[in-house]
Amino acid sequence: MMEPRHAGGPDPEPPVLECTGVTRAFRVKGRLFNPARTLCAVDAVSFSVRRGEVFAIVGESGAGKTTLAKMLLGLQAPSSGVIRFAGRPLGEVGRVAIARRVQPVFQDPYSSLNPRKTLGQIISLPLAVHRIGTEADRRARVDEIMAMVGLPEHLLHAYPNQLSGGQRQRVAIARALAMKPDILVCDEPTSALDVSVQAQIINLLRELQQELGLTYVLVSHDLGVIRHMADRVAVMYLGRMVEIGRTAQIFRAPRHPYTEMLLGAILTPEPELGLPPGPAEDSFPDPLDPPDGCRFHPRCPSVQNPCRHTSPETRHDAHGSVECHLHPAEQETRYG
Ligand SMILES: Nc1ncnc2c1ncn2[C@@H]1O[C@H](COP(=O)(O)OP(=O)(O)OP(=O)(O)O)[C@@H](O)[C@H]1O
Ligand SMILES: [Mg+2]
Repeated sequence: MMEPRHAGGPDPEPPVLECTGVTRAFRVKGRLFNPARTLCAVDAVSFSVRRGEVFAIVGESGAGKTTLAKMLLGLQAPSSGVIRFAGRPLGEVGRVAIARRVQPVFQDPYSSLNPRKTLGQIISLPLAVHRIGTEADRRARVDEIMAMVGLPEHLLHAYPNQLSGGQRQRVAIARALAMKPDILVCDEPTSALDVSVQAQIINLLRELQQELGLTYVLVSHDLGVIRHMADRVAVMYLGRMVEIGRTAQIFRAPRHPYTEMLLGAILTPEPELGLPPGPAEDSFPDPLDPPDGCRFHPRCPSVQNPCRHTSPETRHDAHGSVECHLHPAEQETRYG
């Protein structure tokens, strides 16, 4: 079988995660007399992630990051395209096997933990549901994971409302680790937390990743977190992955004008390295009616005529990929 061309050169082991042409469309009801329309939240996205890699996804609100994350977790089915785990299509992998491969860490530890269960019950639930180990094994595993994520033993019988925000996110991480997954899909894992605890959770995720050899798909608005943690960065815009590259290359020499625009935010004198809260409403296109040609062209400072009419092709090279008329393949060697 021909391997699709992806960043990073040849790899003997199949990628731990691979998406090929993954698309998710939603039918959106029309208001009043308008007919229903289709919103393409994720549009033919292809990428692969190697074992042990931190693959970050960044982009403004509405780019399709959470929709993609949910598909990777098997919580939403792609409308088309294929997701593979270690070479096996998601559809062929059973529920327990999916849970063993990929687990979520969501943004909001307040709503994702059952308030009526104790911390011990929450962490062991995935094991109990899948009937893994004896009750004693599960207890031992809970003790082990609690220590791993820095939760003191005496909290075993505590309820989520007795914990701080940072502790709750530690519980969510512990629950995600219970099944010994290969991949954590972290969707804004710190953005609901106080700034003072964000760094602790990020450091914990980083340590766990290194100790356990985990693979992360990390969705974050926080460019500081991405720069600190990610090996590669994928930039999404209106459902498309417009650029993928090594973190250092993306920050040093972004190729897509949209990536440049996002990174412009890092140069603002804001105390935390974040993106602006959202695009100005007049400049952000309607996702139900995306622009012709390159979707970014109405906001692009370097727009040229073909950008208005023709969708750019995705060009792959040793650095990753870029989807922009201004970056034909032959110019890309200057980043070597
Ligand atoms: N169930 C749904 N039905 C209809 N449209 C949806 C649905 N879920 C998401 N969308 C739309 O899909 C697009 C992508 O949404 P998504 O939540 O994936 O974006 P995001 O990149 O995670 O944004 P944010 O940074 O705000 O979390 C948006 O236009 C959103 O309104
Ligand atoms: Mg989201």
